[in-house]
Amino acid sequence: MSKNIVIAIDGYSSCGKSTIAKALAKKLHFIYIDTGAMYRAVTLYFLRNKIDLNDPIAVESALDNIHINFEYRDEQTFVFLNEEDISEEIRQMPVSEKVSQVSAIKAVRTAMVRQQQRMGKSKNIIMDGRDIGTVVFPDATLKFFMTADPQIRAERRYKELINKGEKVSLEEIYANLALRDHQDTTREESPLIQAADAIVLDNSNIDQEMQLEFALSYIRPLLIDKNTQ
Ligand code: DC
Repeated sequence: MSKNIVIAIDGYSSCGKSTIAKALAKKLHFIYIDTGAMYRAVTLYFLRNKIDLNDPIAVESALDNIHINFEYRDEQTFVFLNEEDISEEIRQMPVSEKVSQVSAIKAVRTAMVRQQQRMGKSKNIIMDGRDIGTVVFPDATLKFFMTADPQIRAERRYKELINKGEKVSLEEIYANLALRDHQDTTREESPLIQAADAIVLDNSNIDQEMQLEFALSYIRPLLIDKNTQ
């Protein structure tokens, strides 16, 4: 069997990484892995169990008790933390406010990266996150780096949360995104940076269909190559 295809999608928060990743996975019949959801699941566990982030022993032993799984049903991805469906709860503000701090902890990253590398070992996958093309899969078949204007990103996220019935303000969302951008790009452990060989996709002013077409224009030749090998 020829080597599996790994497509890495990195970029800022609320850039639509997961939307395009899901659409590509569906079209190509690849497995989609949302690594942000994994860091969110860890954050939820830490919040619920009041884990002191400055206590390395407490963090390590909590990590030993965290088991994250994905399930794919009716074209949707569900995230499970120790068998409990936490797909909704990890998108709410308490987790969003803490997740950058949790994902900056070295022990957390080591544990998650190990799991992610295992997930992408033998299957065709699309994985989105912040360090996929730089740390998790530096040899990914293809890498995209997504970006968009911060105001547009905040408005998209705001609409999403309001539609779900959450009571949030646009200012609060904008501030959370700005803070996460700052924390994600300046942290010591695996900061968000564009891999040298990544293809930049700025979706400030293009719709989902155009984004999909843009990405597919790079992916199609790979599939032809694989099929003719
Ligand atoms: O993509 P997201 O907004 O769900 O990610 C949540 C947080 O997790 C984000 O603030 C940064 C962090 N993250 C990370 O550090 N590395 C990844 N591979 C994915 C997410």
